[in-house]
Amino acid sequence: MLILWRLLIFVGVTYSAPAPIISPDVDVDENLQLWNAESNIVPQPIRGNLGSTIVGPHNKAVELQNPDLLAPPTTDNGQVQNMKWPFALSHNRLAKGGWARQQNVDVMPVATALAGVNMRLEPGAIREMHWHNTAEWAYMLKGDVRVSTVTPEGHVFVGDVSEGDLWYFPAGNPHSIQAKNTTRDGAEFLLIFDSGSFSEDATFLLTDWLAHVPKEVLAKNFGIKDLHAFDHIPEKELYIFPASPPPEDVEIDMVIPNNTPNPYTFRLSKVKPRKTPGGSVKVVDSRTFTVSEKISAVEVSVEVGGMRELHWHPTQPEWNYFISGEARVTIFASSANAHTFNYRGGDIGYVPPSFGHYVENTGNTTLKFLEVFGSGLFEDISLTQWLALTPPALVKAHLGFSSKTIAKLSKMKQEVV
Ligand SMILES: *[C@@H]1O[C@H](CO)[C@@H](O)[C@H](O)[C@H]1NC(C)=O
Ligand SMILES: *[C@@H]1O[C@H](CO)[C@@H](O)[C@H](O)[C@H]1NC(C)=O
Repeated sequence: MLILWRLLIFVGVTYSAPAPIISPDVDVDENLQLWNAESNIVPQPIRGNLGSTIVGPHNKAVELQNPDLLAPPTTDNGQVQNMKWPFALSHNRLAKGGWARQQNVDVMPVATALAGVNMRLEPGAIREMHWHNTAEWAYMLKGDVRVSTVTPEGHVFVGDVSEGDLWYFPAGNPHSIQAKNTTRDGAEFLLIFDSGSFSEDATFLLTDWLAHVPKEVLAKNFGIKDLHAFDHIPEKELYIFPASPPPEDVEIDMVIPNNTPNPYTFRLSKVKPRKTPGGSVKVVDSRTFTVSEKISAVEVSVEVGGMRELHWHPTQPEWNYFISGEARVTIFASSANAHTFNYRGGDIGYVPPSFGHYVENTGNTTLKFLEVFGSGLFEDISLTQWLALTPPALVKAHLGFSSKTIAKLSKMKQEVV
């Protein structure tokens, strides 16, 4: 309304300002995001007639990145747990050949079902052979890696993964990750685990185990009489360490040909996205990436001005990673509780099962992010579709919509509008 009024003033039409719609203090238009990280302002906790300046210290960089924490829309209310963690705030672990930083319940207590790790490996660098008691789902951010695993059935899989592709290892299955030298810059990727209390520092490492088994037992176990064969086992874990890149041809790296019934990698980068009115989506779950029984995901692109529509996931906890662009998300936690958060590339979000939410592109570039779910099947409920397919008299009785408004609601799920 405010925009229309300004426009009418601009074209010289006489028009008196309309009465405020929601509250006597704040015009409805003023619930927009008030600034962004690049704004050249000193941000203040002021919205319309509400709030006042900060006269104590500012942390300007953090305040610029979180406009809806400092000056929330008046539709926000009550208490909602923190749903944002930038990887930039994670304590990093630096190693020769790379680094790793993590997010789990220690830093983000609401995220009980899923945890994440951001890892970098220089060309040839290895994330030591290991296993853990959670499933691992991975998304390549840049570069190329070679992964390998052996299953409880004794089947083997070795495969390569590039930007936008995935791998998955079930809980307890041993695996390796090594950066290739295809782009000459190694690799960076995301790891997501189906437990919020996962810790990257508490995985089962090959060297760590063997450093804690008597050599005589190793000799008996491997059927090797010469104890000197074990002289070079490191005393401490290697974790991330440099090595020569693997041969470009993956078959050279196979002891025997791959013989798992299904692959443990998935070329999501080669999947054609489904176009939607405001962007596009790629859904990947156990219906297409068969082995991924505990984790599913959607890669979402939202064009400038677009929005991932109001929706919720019936039983699936959601872990978000923002790849690029800027986003505004309001999370509705029932009982009149709702908070709005702002995200940008490198930030993590979390939405507990059934909490209503939307994801709006508030930037000037395409917003790209991942929705990762602690479930083998992706499911969501679209608010618009629900209202469009419910007897209209019921919808009118609740929301006071006119027949004309109801007729405009899409009966098809749109995902991004
Ligand atoms: C990666 O490839 C480039 C170009 O071939 C080469 O110069 C560089 O030494 C390689 N890096 C490693 C770690 O082998
Ligand atoms: C988008 O561009 C406009 C006009 O150049 C600018 O005022 C605004 O701050 C930009 N927004 C973002 C999120 O960069």
